Amino acid sequence: MRLEEKLENSLVMRNIRSDEDVVKFARFNAEFNNASEGATCELLLREHKGMTQEDFFLVEDTSAGEFLATICLIPWEISFEGIPIHAAMLEMVLSHPAHRKQGLVKRLILCFLAEVDKRGYEVSLITGIPNYYRQYGYTYAFDLGTSEILPAFLLPDSAKSPAGRYGLRNANQVDLGQLAKWHEENNRQKQVHVLRSDDHWRYLFDKAKFDIRIVEDTSTHAAVGYCLVNESADRKTIQIPEAVLPNHEVAQATLNLLRTDVTERIIIGCGKQDVLAQLVGEYGSVASRNTQWLIRTHDVVKFMNRIKPVFEKRLACAGCSCMSAEVIVNLFRYAIRLRIKEGKIESIQNVGFLDSSMGADGGDLCIPHDAFIRLLFGYRNLDELWDAWPDIVVKPEKKHIIEILLPKLCGHLYAPYHYQG
Ligand SMILES: CC(C)(COP(=O)(O)OP(=O)(O)OC[C@H]1O[C@@H](n2cnc3c(N)ncnc32)[C@H](O)[C@@H]1OP(=O)(O)O)[C@@H](O)C(=O)NCCC(=O)NCCS
Repeated sequence: MRLEEKLENSLVMRNIRSDEDVVKFARFNAEFNNASEGATCELLLREHKGMTQEDFFLVEDTSAGEFLATICLIPWEISFEGIPIHAAMLEMVLSHPAHRKQGLVKRLILCFLAEVDKRGYEVSLITGIPNYYRQYGYTYAFDLGTSEILPAFLLPDSAKSPAGRYGLRNANQVDLGQLAKWHEENNRQKQVHVLRSDDHWRYLFDKAKFDIRIVEDTSTHAAVGYCLVNESADRKTIQIPEAVLPNHEVAQATLNLLRTDVTERIIIGCGKQDVLAQLVGEYGSVASRNTQWLIRTHDVVKFMNRIKPVFEKRLACAGCSCMSAEVIVNLFRYAIRLRIKEGKIESIQNVGFLDSSMGADGGDLCIPHDAFIRLLFGYRNLDELWDAWPDIVVKPEKKHIIEILLPKLCGHLYAPYHYQG
């Protein structure tokens, strides 16, 4: 249902509803953020198959017909160990410089969070300005923008020699099916990753103008892999945010083919386990940390119920198929009870407030909400979390089962949509 809510004075909070709005929304983001954000807005508004006008929210001063703040919702599907999770990304968060600190963006974000819940999204995520989104219940959870930086002079002589067997060409429409297949196969080694639909591949290629290169075997012209490439305007930096290449030989040839005489650094943004990241690691690249994704689960218990099969698989893999047990996780405001019967999750329930003060039992794992989100999504294990959260308390006799249920995972979230043209 379309949103239209009168605020104070002549302000209205509403969705986009006309072509004129589309232009104004994009222009607002271009003017007060930058041209690239404006172009991306327009693209999302006009070309993203999974988005409708109801995914764009704004505050308008109706007396002047002027937009004062915007946000939007970009839908993604995340695979959590094989379970598809619907995720809503908060984006295009912007308020007019003359109207900041008046709670306009807060109104929009609260409205967004209500929509996320109403529409049944299991998580919401954002890559955002430091600290700001914590106030809305977001927790830092997955690495974002982590990369390996290789000064070009560290490429060994063997990599500087002619690539020989392999060549690079620009991808074309016909390649899209194969690209999707490679991407999906490669992602299987990442326990948490963003799924990419055929429509989104078309969006990246046709509309967002991603530079997608195919690596070919020159003798047979068979395509063997691909990479996304982003070369800086001065051509000194080559960034590869994603690559699926079959082995070190092809990875080495790809670097060799991409590198020019003016290349000063190569930045690999793929996951740590990808062949290209491993190769540049061997050449002496430096790991660069950027920030972390912010994740919010509206209903932690619902999310845990959604991933029940994952818990059961973990129990089976740990040889606990016959185990029956109860685990109480106390998030201090409320506690969650997991009942396990013969290796199956019988129930996961919110059991309300559980006293953890002196003399009270408090449950098997007492853990602050933020720390639990990091644990639940496999970003950190209990031992790692203890450093920043000394208020985590675990019963020694339950630590093993908790570690089986909530292990550290290999996750890599890459969700591209920005206009590259
Ligand atoms: C960040 C931005 C969206 C905030 O918009 P805003 O309309 O001023 O936000 P609100 O008035 O709704 O602020 C809500 C709360 O956040 C606080 N806040 C505002 N800007 C903040 C910031 N940069 N960091 C931390 N807190 C901030 C406000 O003080 C307010 O706190 P309160 O509820 O205790 O009064 C705005 O400054 C902006 O458009 N910046 C440029 C674009 C940008 O960085 N967008 C985010 C990209 S991820």
